[in-house]
Amino acid sequence: MTGKKKVLLSARKIRARVKRLGKQLTAAYAGKDPLFVCVLKGACVFYADLVRAVRCPVQFDFVQASSYGSGTVSSGEVRLEKATDQPVEGRHVVLVEDIVDTGRTLAYLKRLFLQQGARSVAICALLDKPSRRAAGGAQADYVGFTIADRFVVGCGLDYAERFRNLPAIAELPAEETHE
Ligand code: PRP
Repeated sequence: MTGKKKVLLSARKIRARVKRLGKQLTAAYAGKDPLFVCVLKGACVFYADLVRAVRCPVQFDFVQASSYGSGTVSSGEVRLEKATDQPVEGRHVVLVEDIVDTGRTLAYLKRLFLQQGARSVAICALLDKPSRRAAGGAQADYVGFTIADRFVVGCGLDYAERFRNLPAIAELPAEETHE
């Protein structure tokens, strides 16, 4: 990390919060054989930490979705690039995301899984930017941290595929994004 980035959430703070989320999810899903679905790629770091903080059996699966638009403006259209390997019919699904921004990606995935017959679909996101929510955008059921509308990287979140491996969540100054 260069000196320019401002750390918003330290790795230590994130670890502590993930541990608490794990306890909550353990209480909610014990005996339900949940399917924890990681939304690639951004959620992979949070997902790996979260599932290890959950103390009841969970099954893993992965999806990838893309939203279309130019620059930071999304068209609102979401497309599934990779579906789950296992059928979600009859399953208690927990969608694991790094961030809920407009909420369109998760609204699309939740709707899709419910159409496919999932018994329940909950959303667990490390970060939530409620000020960015679009009409019809999903709300998370479990949130690590609520943040303001800042461009953040680290812990899976990228700028042009960089910075995903930072252990903290940091704000990326506009000059580093060349905007
Ligand atoms: C990011 C993030 C969510 C989505 C949130 O993914 O990981 O999936 O955007 O935005 P929304 O709430 O406005 O739908 P991105 O498309 O950047 O892909 P990535 O996870 O591979 O970085």
